[in-house]
Amino acid sequence: MILKHHPGWQGCLLLLFTLGWACVSALAEAGTPAQGEAQVSERGAVATVNALATQAGMAVLAKGGNAVDAAVAAALALGVVDGHNSGVGGGAFVLIRTSDGKLIALDGRETAPAKATRDMFIRNGVADTQLSQVGALASGVPGSVMAYERAIALAGAKSFSEVIQPSIALAEKGFPLDRLYATRLANSADRLAQFEDSRKVLLQPDGQPWPAGHILIQQDLATTLKGIARDGSNFFYQGSFAQALDSWMEGHGGLLSKDDFAQYQVIERTPLLSDYRGVEIVGFPPPSSGGMHVAQILGMVQGHNLGELGEAERYHLLGEAMKLAFADRAYWLGDPDFTKVPAGLIDPAYLSRQAARLDPAHVITVETHGDPTQLRSTSDAEKDAEDLFRKHTTHIATADYAGNWVAITTTVNTDFGSKVIIPGTGVIMNNQMDDFSTQPGVPNAYGLVGAEANSIQPGKRPLSSMSPTLVSKDGKPLMTLGAAGGPTIITQVVQTLINYLDLQLPLEQALSKSRIHQQWRPDVLFIEANLPADTRKALQQKGHLLKEMGPYGSTQAIAMGQDGKLIAVSEPRLKARNEGP
Ligand code: GLY
Repeated sequence: MILKHHPGWQGCLLLLFTLGWACVSALAEAGTPAQGEAQVSERGAVATVNALATQAGMAVLAKGGNAVDAAVAAALALGVVDGHNSGVGGGAFVLIRTSDGKLIALDGRETAPAKATRDMFIRNGVADTQLSQVGALASGVPGSVMAYERAIALAGAKSFSEVIQPSIALAEKGFPLDRLYATRLANSADRLAQFEDSRKVLLQPDGQPWPAGHILIQQDLATTLKGIARDGSNFFYQGSFAQALDSWMEGHGGLLSKDDFAQYQVIERTPLLSDYRGVEIVGFPPPSSGGMHVAQILGMVQGHNLGELGEAERYHLLGEAMKLAFADRAYWLGDPDFTKVPAGLIDPAYLSRQAARLDPAHVITVETHGDPTQLRSTSDAEKDAEDLFRKHTTHIATADYAGNWVAITTTVNTDFGSKVIIPGTGVIMNNQMDDFSTQPGVPNAYGLVGAEANSIQPGKRPLSSMSPTLVSKDGKPLMTLGAAGGPTIITQVVQTLINYLDLQLPLEQALSKSRIHQQWRPDVLFIEANLPADTRKALQQKGHLLKEMGPYGSTQAIAMGQDGKLIAVSEPRLKARNEGP
């Protein structure tokens, strides 16, 4: 999985110079085994969860594109070959550090329809999560297409049209379903079957899910992608796609309209900067909660020498800092254009105060959020464990030797989003409305609770855990990383950073090391099955209620090695799951 100058892709690269995208499509057509989800060439590196998407990015690099072009090509290809996680029907956060050191944060998060109301999912006094997760009401206006177009316009070396070509080829020629895709399909088949085009595109004629190995061709999606390649994002937001969506929504009780699409805007935000032991962490600001809470957790533990602590002591402190951070998340975080998110949440003075609450000997009780507002004016339900830890969303990390570094996290939210494919378009629509707090105290699909800051309002963006992150030291880029998996995204990123920076593990081990997760509600410490018995015992003695999960998460990371060569790693657990018994 870890790759330095992988020999296998070079033949493909050579072919790509001569045959354009034929190599990508030929691989897809022939069902050629993956050549690596993380690849490095003499031009740069790409890490995604899918070898075909990684190859799409590598192919763009090989044709003279930069890391931004490669990231967008890979993201669009993922929408085809990994469409249960992401696609043009979803949203994205794009974080870029250009070769001249400029930071760009593009917010392509979904927006609620103009006709949305605070209590639109309440039925008989209770939030109906079926409505916020499946069908016409579940979707916001997707922002990925416009965010990718903007990224290319601001920092790419290629045209948007060119970087779309690999995904068109993959949609037209098809690709073999891997085990993970087939499992997701089987889990969602009954809900997908409710919608005509979802049935037609994703299920067998008798309604059964396609098995692994089936070549999935998505002709309608190819046509939509070609429209975007030809007309740019106007095709999606003002043209044929918006029209098709409008008609379907009107006939199926949806609120989204072509006017919502026409009004959609990507927002260029100010990246969130923090210092961790002399290393600069660049995170994504709200409506992502990721940047805020990665910085909070790191800020709360940085007074401890994590590299020298015992395993249980380190996990204990981390879990407790996660608990405090998630309590803040539930109260304070929301779309900053609608609610005031205090900048004091990452003020060192506030974090010191919070850190002082941590007790190395025992768990603390966290009844509610902290209060950073006095510092400056700047402003249980326990869900089914499967739901919380199933990998949703996807992350793309790219870097090039010219010095461009990119982190994109993108999602349709839970598997196959709302389960709706808009007829004739092949586009799977997101169910991001479920990321709003549909009712205070009612957990969403990830068991997360929220408050007024994340309530539904027309045009508002739901809070996200997506945490694309860039790291630099002494002004030089060091890492790009991010993850998938709802709220565990935040804690995966934190642990990868600590494992790499404090424990100084090689990058692959930094990802594969056993993970923990704490999100305040439910008040349990989630652990992976491979956590050693003595560590568990020590954690229990400190008062932790442990809950064992299977291997979880999906982190992609690229780092600059000390030898000046890029190292790219894609989540080791995913490969094990895809190839396991
Ligand atoms: N839809 C998952 C997230 O944005 O956190």
